Amino acid sequence: MKTDDDVSSPRDGKNIGVWDLVRGLRDGYHLSTVLACILSFGSMFMLGQFRCLSLSDLARHNMIEHNASLVHKDDLNGAEYAPTRVDRKLLAALCAEGGKVIPDRMTLEDAARIRIKREAECGKLDGVHSEVARGEIVIAIGVLGGKDAAKTGVNISALQEWMSHERLPTGWKPDHTQGLYQTYKMAKFVRERMRAAEAQQSSSKPAESH
Ligand code: HEM
Ligand SMILES: *[C@@H]1O[C@H](CO)[C@@H](O)[C@H](O)[C@H]1NC(C)=O
Ligand SMILES: *[C@@H]1O[C@H](CO)[C@@H](O)[C@H](O)[C@H]1NC(C)=O
Ligand SMILES: [Mg+2]
Repeated sequence: MKTDDDVSSPRDGKNIGVWDLVRGLRDGYHLSTVLACILSFGSMFMLGQFRCLSLSDLARHNMIEHNASLVHKDDLNGAEYAPTRVDRKLLAALCAEGGKVIPDRMTLEDAARIRIKREAECGKLDGVHSEVARGEIVIAIGVLGGKDAAKTGVNISALQEWMSHERLPTGWKPDHTQGLYQTYKMAKFVRERMRAAEAQQSSSKPAESH
């Protein structure tokens, strides 16, 4: 039987075309058209799937998916698909690392510290996946945190709700359009924080290593 859903966008997570993705990101998260296109075309390119994709394809290891995720365990023994279930302990650890700059809020500074920590635990990511991983948390903070998120971050409970249920926090509505330039600046801030912290770490280590 045909329902309204059949003619709008796919709801079963299969046969998602690139323009379905673009539309979803614009309508659901208020990403700008340019940012939505870059993420959508970029993702299909990274997956090597140019016609359409299923949500399950996103977990294919080392395509978009990478180790040292915030709330997902690493891919084990070169498996084709990485774990897709949210790991409760990792989620709790993530939330506990927030709030160090502004109470109850996860800021970009917290995000930088957390990315360093995950890559120290799991091993350093290559340049592309390190950028992808930064982009993920930056867009989440930017979108869910609202128009001042670059400075004030996101409500940790709202982030936790979004991550644990993989759906929008109740009553949440986008209050701004998240654009490419703003996202770029936020990611750059996180990258610089990470570089600075890593430089400090390696200079405080005894010289015998290497
Ligand atoms: C075309 C659009 C998108 C695609 C294809 C995509 C795909 C993915 C994939 C494959 C991962 C798993 C990477 C990993 O953790 O190993 C991921 C993680 C993540 N994504 Fe997206 N994403 C998209 C858009 C977004 C948007 C709009 C947001 C924020 C509102 C977002 C936030 C996140 C976050 C926070 C994670 C990290 C989860 C974790 O580290 O455990 N993504 N994304
Ligand atoms: C991801 O981590 C797992 C477990 O440590 C490892 O077997 C796998 O090779 C890693 N993947 C990459 C691309 O480094
Ligand atoms: C933070 O988010 C939670 C859950 O979405 C909400 O109940 C709470 O009121 C929010 N706190 C603030 C200060 O906005
Ligand atoms: Mg992962």
